Amino acid sequence: MDMHRFEGRVAIVTGAGGGLGRAYAMLLAARGAKVLVNDLGGSFQGEGADQSYAQATAQAIRDLGGEALANGDSVATTEGAEAIVAQAMEAWGQVDILVNNAGVVVGVGPLWNVTDEQWDTDIGVAAGGTFRLCRAVWKHMWERDYGRIVNIASGSFFGMGSGVGYPAAKGAVWGITRGLASASAAKGKNVHVNAIMPIAASRMTALMGPEIEAAMTRDFPADAVAPVVGLLAHDASPCNGEMFSVGGGGFARVLLGVTGGYRGTNKQLTIEEVAENFALAMDHSTFFLPADSLEDAEAYESGVNWNAFREFIG
Ligand code: NAI
Repeated sequence: MDMHRFEGRVAIVTGAGGGLGRAYAMLLAARGAKVLVNDLGGSFQGEGADQSYAQATAQAIRDLGGEALANGDSVATTEGAEAIVAQAMEAWGQVDILVNNAGVVVGVGPLWNVTDEQWDTDIGVAAGGTFRLCRAVWKHMWERDYGRIVNIASGSFFGMGSGVGYPAAKGAVWGITRGLASASAAKGKNVHVNAIMPIAASRMTALMGPEIEAAMTRDFPADAVAPVVGLLAHDASPCNGEMFSVGGGGFARVLLGVTGGYRGTNKQLTIEEVAENFALAMDHSTFFLPADSLEDAEAYESGVNWNAFREFIG
C-alpha cells in the first residue's frame, strides 16, 4: 500500500508532454491526484507548438484509470499562465500542487553570439513561466492556506560552461523559490515552495550522441527523479524553501549559505584588511544558512533593529 497518496488533490504540471514533466504527472496521477498536463509542445529550443504532446500524457494517465486534462498554452505569457490555472479551477475548483517544469535551452555557445531573442526566450520560459504560474495560483493557495509548489531549477546554476541565459533563468527560479517560501513562512502559511535540480536522460541529453544517451537512459531515468517531487508535493512535505539535487536513484540537499567570514567592528574596510582576512571569508567550517536576507545582515555587528526592518518589508 502506497503511504503517500494524493486523493482530493489537484496538480498542475507544466512542460509535462514528455521527459521529466511527464514522469511527475504520471506519478502524481498514479497516486490519486487530478492532473492538468500542460505542454506547449515545441522543440527544446523553444520553436513551434504541438497540442498533441500534452494530450498524449493526459491520455496515458486516463488509460491507466487516472484523471487528467491536457493544456497547450505557453507558460511564458500572462494569458497562457492564467488560462492554465483557469482550466484546472473550472474543472476541479482548486489547485493544490504546482510543478513548474517547463523549460528550454536556447542561448548556448560563445557569449558574443547569443542574441537578445535567445536571452529573452531562456529567461521568459523558465524564470518568466515560474513567476507567472506562481502569481496565478498564489492568492488562491494563500487564502486556502494550502499549497505545494515544486520549481524545477538546474545544476547549470553552479556554472554550465556554455550559455548564461539558461543558468540565469534557473538562478531566478531559485530566487522565486526562496522569496515565496520566506513570505509563506513569515505568515505561518501551509504553503511550501521548494525546488529541485534534476539530472535525467531526456531529449536534450539524446543530442549528445548514442553512447551518452544509452548511459544516461540506464543510469539516470526520468522516473527516478519523480519521487522527490512527489514528497515535496505531498501534505507530508518535510520542508519549505529547500533545493535538492536529484538523479540516478538519489537526492541531496543543495545549500546556499554564508561563512562566518570576517566581521570587522569599525564599520569600514580597506583593501589591505580584505586581503589579510580573505581566508576567514573562505573558511567553510563556519558556514551557516540564513533563512532570509535579514539573517544574512544580522551576522554583522550592528545596532540596526532588523525586526523593524522585517516588519517593514512584510
Ligand atoms: P524536455 O525538453 O523534454 O521538457 C521540457 C518541456 O517543456 C517540453 O515538453 C516543452 O515542450 C515544454 N515547454 C517548453 N516551453 C514551454 C512553454 N513556453 N510553455 C509550456 N511548455 C513548454 O526536457 P527535460 O529534460 O524533461 O526538462 C524538464 C525540466 O527539467 C526543464 O525545466 C529543464 O530545464 C530541467 N532540467 C533538466 C535536466 C536534465 O538532466 N534532463 C537538468 C536540469 C534541469
